[in-house]
Amino acid sequence: HVSDVSLAALELGPYRHFMQKEIHEQPRAISDTAEGILDAGDFVPSLFGDEAEAVLADVASVQILACGTSYYAGLTARYWIEALAGIPCAVEIASEYRYRKVVGHPQQLIVTISQSGETLDTMEALKYAKAQGQDKTLSICNVPESAIPRASRLVFYTRAGAEIGVASTKAFTTQLVALFALAVTLGRLRGQVDDAHAAALLDDLCHLPGSVQHALNLEPQIAAWASAFAPYQHALFLGRGTHYPIALEGALKLKEISYIHAEGYPAGELKHGPLALVDAQMPVVVIAPNDALLEKVKSNIQEVRARGGQMYVFADADSSFTESEGVHVIRTPRHVGLLSPIVHAIPVQLLAYHTALARGTDVDKPRNLAKAVTVE
Ligand code: G6P
Repeated sequence: HVSDVSLAALELGPYRHFMQKEIHEQPRAISDTAEGILDAGDFVPSLFGDEAEAVLADVASVQILACGTSYYAGLTARYWIEALAGIPCAVEIASEYRYRKVVGHPQQLIVTISQSGETLDTMEALKYAKAQGQDKTLSICNVPESAIPRASRLVFYTRAGAEIGVASTKAFTTQLVALFALAVTLGRLRGQVDDAHAAALLDDLCHLPGSVQHALNLEPQIAAWASAFAPYQHALFLGRGTHYPIALEGALKLKEISYIHAEGYPAGELKHGPLALVDAQMPVVVIAPNDALLEKVKSNIQEVRARGGQMYVFADADSSFTESEGVHVIRTPRHVGLLSPIVHAIPVQLLAYHTALARGTDVDKPRNLAKAVTVE
């Protein structure tokens, strides 16, 4: 229909695809999602609903359940929850959890993460947990009144706005904001995060949209990398700590929309297998936003270079790391502490997007994939 086409053109504005538009909406999506937190002036239970004070007060452990990109948001949150709240956190793919015997605990908080709120496996995992007597349930969701938040006692709605591109982008980074707020809130309730620390973290959150905008400004440099990337059939993504899930997400984005086979690994695992695959046809992307990690990555770089592999490194502005033969470096914004994985999600999204563009794939509707998987 002509009307559908012109409507889409109107909604796209200056962008070629919804994915590109949604990548660029992230400073706005993040500041909308953080608005309630900044308005409250602290990380308070009421951000998660009326019952939150009672439900969260005696939480002794956290079990996160999700699928796809939402699962990677959960993996990132584990680092925050254990560091800030000092309570154990497990993260599991919903379709695995729902079909095994699980050992729950009445003081365990079940956290489901879902952009659509309708993913069948995540919904069934939540029902299964409830059937085991787990009644502390919280969902992080982008679609108001969808099935998963309706089945949960506590809810945090991300305010990404409608996400049309099948590959999730702005939903992911806003889920991370919500999960960060959850980690700090649990830390506050348990007396692990004092007033001064909470104020500093709030300040970091306040500056996050600006750092994300800086990362978006790297688009021309990343697009230049993408043209070198397009002919490859395989790629490896490495990260450490909170940037390990970002490596996984970078690999997933590249697979989903450019159909290049990609794998994410913790940088320390390179020697335990994937190094065997590295040659001139296998580029290695490293998300290494600080010098401490770069020191460790330097020996990996020698190994990759010795096998003819090309390294593509995202290193932050403060790092002393420089380009050399076969080692390409893009400087990401100044380090933003614990929120760094949110900023570093942007370059890997842009790399996947521009590589897909160069390969001419259907960016917004990749083959065989659906936006929400409501069947098994
Ligand atoms: C599908 C989508 C992904 C999404 C996943 C989980 O695979 O293509 O982008 O991450 O489902 O979806 P949810 O709505 O539960 O976050």
